Amino acid sequence: MAQTAVATENQAGRHQEVGHKSLLQSDDLYQYILETSVYPREPEPMKELREITANHPWNIMTTSADEGQFLNMLLKLINAKNTMEIGVYTGYSLLATALALPDDGKILAMDINKENYELGLPVIEKAGVAHKIEFKEGPALPVLDQMVADGKYHGSYDFIFVDADKDNYLNYHKRLIDLVKVGGVIGYDNTLWNGSVVAPPDAPLRKYVRYYRDFVLELNKALAADPRIEICQLPVGDGITLCRRLS
Ligand SMILES: C[S@@+](CC[C@H](N)C(=O)[O-])C[C@H]1O[C@@H](n2cnc3c(N)ncnc32)[C@H](O)[C@@H]1O
Repeated sequence: MAQTAVATENQAGRHQEVGHKSLLQSDDLYQYILETSVYPREPEPMKELREITANHPWNIMTTSADEGQFLNMLLKLINAKNTMEIGVYTGYSLLATALALPDDGKILAMDINKENYELGLPVIEKAGVAHKIEFKEGPALPVLDQMVADGKYHGSYDFIFVDADKDNYLNYHKRLIDLVKVGGVIGYDNTLWNGSVVAPPDAPLRKYVRYYRDFVLELNKALAADPRIEICQLPVGDGITLCRRLS
């Protein structure tokens, strides 16, 4: 290929100053979104749970309020009824999900740590949505293996949210693609991983960010190449990639 053709092709793939569509240029703009559109509409129980979580030492793990609002809206848009969540922590995304589902909706929620879930549980109970949740304590992968082996769960989930151990996302994907229904959605959280996906090799990254970075990069490539799904990566929270099962 001639050099000018290569240059034009590269140029076409890069975002441009004019028509640059990512508007989130500052923390102030993010704060504006929170204060204008998210906090005023945040259901009272989610606010209460967000405040409890803010006092917990691992609060960096929580789903952000704007992402909670996004999940809640998405679940309503797709009329989700049967859902799964891998990675619960104190339950902010779980509560956003539980509030969006119909009264007979279901969430299979899994986490290796039950103590943190129990911090949020009283708020979930007070909100009147705890009956939708089945919480399983322990690693998610063996549970998924059992569900795949027991054919009755195939194609049964409308929505699955994955927000746990990043080094297992591809292992989860191999199983979840069987469990989500055709037309259903899997959401993988943290696919921009603190922005580290574009960090130079010598960038000063926190240890855990550096450790999981390669797994996130590998996941993003694998999802983009997977013909069984269509995908959409959104810069909400730490990046969420929605995968809609095609076949
Ligand atoms: C980022 S937090 C989840 C945040 C949560 N979605 C929220 O809205 O607050 C990740 C969670 O994954 C859990 N986790 C880590 N490894 C896991 C595994 N193998 N199976 C299930 N959960 C796991 C951790 O205990 C932690 O609570």
